[in-house]
Amino acid sequence: MIDKIKKLKDERDALILAHNYQIPEVIDVADYVGDSFYLSQVAKESDKKVIVFCGVHFMAESAKILSPEKTVLLPVKDAGCPLAEMVDIDELEKFKKQHPDAAFVCYINTNADIKALCDVTVTSSNAVKIIKKIPNKKIVFLPDKNLGEFVKENVPEKDIILWAGFCPTHRRISKENIISMKRIVQDLVVLAHPECEKEVREIADFVGSTKEIIDYATNTNYTNYLIATEEGVIHSLKKMNPDKNFYVPGLSATCPNMKKTRLEDVYESLLFMKHEINIDEDIAAKARKALEKMLELAR
Ligand code: 13P
Repeated sequence: MIDKIKKLKDERDALILAHNYQIPEVIDVADYVGDSFYLSQVAKESDKKVIVFCGVHFMAESAKILSPEKTVLLPVKDAGCPLAEMVDIDELEKFKKQHPDAAFVCYINTNADIKALCDVTVTSSNAVKIIKKIPNKKIVFLPDKNLGEFVKENVPEKDIILWAGFCPTHRRISKENIISMKRIVQDLVVLAHPECEKEVREIADFVGSTKEIIDYATNTNYTNYLIATEEGVIHSLKKMNPDKNFYVPGLSATCPNMKKTRLEDVYESLLFMKHEINIDEDIAAKARKALEKMLELAR
């Protein structure tokens, strides 16, 4: 299957991108593996005609918005993100009328029509940096409450209004589990994603995006790490750090949507050119402004 995918990929002039949460086989067949920000940059800069995005819908959609001339494929059509569905467009429009002086900042985990109504998009790796640079004092941040709270803690000079969204997978990571793991494993270094609840972030030694978590573990010299994010990152961590130990906080941090894509889906995606991402041009043009503003401010 791997050989068939590679052959077809060359025939189609395609690039395979995989998010850090994908299953090991898919990560291993990808040309680039990374966090949401890194993959959106790779998608934009690539000169390939076709991008197969092994991730969830908003990721492939963002790649298409940034590279309208490319064919962007999402191997599994219903690989979605529940967090991205937590913004209601009517409610957002109402909010915009109520806060005309605020900058509207959306997490990349949103659908294109929501990005189209916002000033700038951010990811977990650049949210703090970008929000510090926005001139408005008042910011409305959506939809992830936990990432928003993390930004608030790091940018106290801004008046940040939070949406009430959350990632169901990160919500299942509990402080109690981490504390009991710390009792069992000595000198356990806790690395957490900012989508984790505040009480988890508070006991973490480092908080960052999936790529930042992988980089932190790779560039430090501890032996035991507890990884408080979706367990898919463990595959790359082990490959890059065979002498270190990685633990997960219980067995619940698995994102069902990120696990939907199998090698067969990647192959069929290339074979039948499915499922192609198409976005209304007007919405895409507006959403592109928010995504391009992110690329500019993240520099
Ligand atoms: P990263 O940008 O850190 O890879 O996170 C994406 C995501 O959806 C986390 O749940």
